[in-house]
Amino acid sequence: MRITIRDIQRLKTERRRIAMLTAYDATMARLVEAAGIPIILVGDSLGMVVQGHQTTLPVTLEQMIYHTQMVVRGTQRALIVADMPFATYQISAEQAFANAARLLQEGGAGAVKLEGGESLAPTVARLTENGIPVMAHIGLTPQHVHQIGGWRVQGRDLAAARALVAAAKAHEASGAFAIVLEGIPAALAAHITARLSIPTIGIGAGAGCDGQVQVLHDLLGLIEDFTPKHARRYAKLGMAIRKVVARYIADVEAGAFPSQAHSFSMDESILAELD
Ligand code: KIV
Repeated sequence: MRITIRDIQRLKTERRRIAMLTAYDATMARLVEAAGIPIILVGDSLGMVVQGHQTTLPVTLEQMIYHTQMVVRGTQRALIVADMPFATYQISAEQAFANAARLLQEGGAGAVKLEGGESLAPTVARLTENGIPVMAHIGLTPQHVHQIGGWRVQGRDLAAARALVAAAKAHEASGAFAIVLEGIPAALAAHITARLSIPTIGIGAGAGCDGQVQVLHDLLGLIEDFTPKHARRYAKLGMAIRKVVARYIADVEAGAFPSQAHSFSMDESILAELD
C-alpha cells in the first residue's frame, strides 16, 4: 500500500518533518524511494533539468503523464505527486479536473500539484471534492516567472505577505492536503505554517516549514554551473559522471575494454565451420 495523504497529514500532527524530492524516471525514483523518501514529486522542473528549457513553461501534459508513469513503475510505497503543467488548469475548473484526472488515471499519480494564489482556490475545491488530492504551491511559482519578472523572492512587503497568508488559508479551506511554499522569507513561511493544520513543504522558505522539497539534480550536483541559493549540493555527481565517461573513452581507445570477462564464448568447432 502506498503512503496516502492521510499519512502525510498525520506527520504534521505528530510534528515530524517531511522530506520530499523530485524524480522524473524509474531508476532515480527507485533509488530515492529506497532511501526512504515518503513523497516523490514529478515536478515540471523536468522541463529545465531534463529537457534543457530555460523555464518550466514548455512542459506538456503528455510529457508529465509519461514521466509520472515511469516514476510510478519504479516505486511501490511513495506517494507520487505530479505537477500540472502551465495552461492545463487555468482556463476553468472543468479543464483542471479533466487534466488532473489524466495524471491519476493514465499517469498513476496519487495527487497533483498546481501553482497559484487565492483565485485558484475554487479550482482546488473542484478537484478535491471530486476525489483528486491536491498539493497547492504558492510564493515564487515558476510558472509565473514572466509575470513575476524573474526568480524573485515573494512576500516581502505587507500586501504580498497578506496575499500569501490568504492564499494558504484559502487552499486549506478548499481541501488541499499540503502546500508548497517556494521562495518566500523564512519568517513568513513559519507564520503561515503555524496557522495551518495541513503541512507546508518549503523550498527556499526556511526551516520553519513542516517539510522540505528539493530538485534531485541540485542535491546530486548534476547541474554543475548553477546551484540555487536554497539548495545544498550533497554530492558532485556531475564531476563523477565526467570522470567515469573519460575513463571509459580511454579504455575503449586503448583496447582495454571490453575484457574477456565482458565477452561471450562459443564452441570453437562451430567457428571453424564458418567461411
Ligand atoms: O517542479 C518542481 O520540481 C517543483 C518543486 C521545485 C517544488 O515545483
